[in-house]
Amino acid sequence: MEDPPLLQRCYFSSFLLVLVIQGLLVNGARSEVYTVGDSEGWDTGIDYGVWSHNYNFSTGDILIFKYVKSQHNVYEVTESTYRSCNSSSGVLDAYDTGSDRVTLKEARKHWFICDVGGHCLGGMRFGIDVSRGSTNGSPHGGAPSLQAQPPPSTPDGPDTNNNGSSKLKSAGPRGWTLLFCIVAWVRLVDLFPK
Ligand SMILES: *[C@@H]1O[C@H](CO)[C@@H](O)[C@H](O)[C@H]1NC(C)=O
Ligand SMILES: *[C@@H]1O[C@H](CO)[C@@H](O)[C@H](O)[C@H]1NC(C)=O
Ligand SMILES: *[C@@H]1O[C@H](CO)[C@@H](O)[C@H](O)[C@H]1NC(C)=O
Repeated sequence: MEDPPLLQRCYFSSFLLVLVIQGLLVNGARSEVYTVGDSEGWDTGIDYGVWSHNYNFSTGDILIFKYVKSQHNVYEVTESTYRSCNSSSGVLDAYDTGSDRVTLKEARKHWFICDVGGHCLGGMRFGIDVSRGSTNGSPHGGAPSLQAQPPPSTPDGPDTNNNGSSKLKSAGPRGWTLLFCIVAWVRLVDLFPK
């Protein structure tokens, strides 16, 4: 008693896809993108301490700095350079395109300043604490949690040794396959509604 090929293919592809998606979620690959300063962007006169406290950052998240090129820049610096605003040392990275994407790769504190003019001392600086994305069971409260189900233990063969009247058993291997298939695809579709 073989399952129809279509069902088998559906079963295996959905099972693999669920595993892959779950792996992505667990590893925190589902990242958030934050525009620094939100609609105000990266500019003078904005309190980035307040901005940074509005969010919790995890590894894999991305910061976008938007500003007029050559009016500002973005330096990732050490804490002491963040405090002193003296960039003669302690610069870890520098960006100046006017639309800089910074991926937060490591779980640690990150410090950013603008090194143009007196902008850093004027308040264009902030520090954020980036936590490890994978310890954060449901990343950013968005995704439904996925649980990969093991395949049914008896994929085919008649139920010879079972006189229980369990409804589950009587559904039979093909019923399971079809059910799993549908559930898997519904979950996948749920994950990517946009
Ligand atoms: C950030 O995380 C803390 C501790 O888990 C929580 O209390 C707070 O509500 C979170 N803030 C945001 C903006 O998600
Ligand atoms: C910045 O630091 C360097 C070396 O630590 C020092 O020589 C320089 O004077 C400092 N600049 C300012 C503006 O304090
Ligand atoms: C199966 O049926 C036999 C006889 O009808 C009964 O003695 C036995 O206890 C049943 N086993 C289970 C697991 O229900």
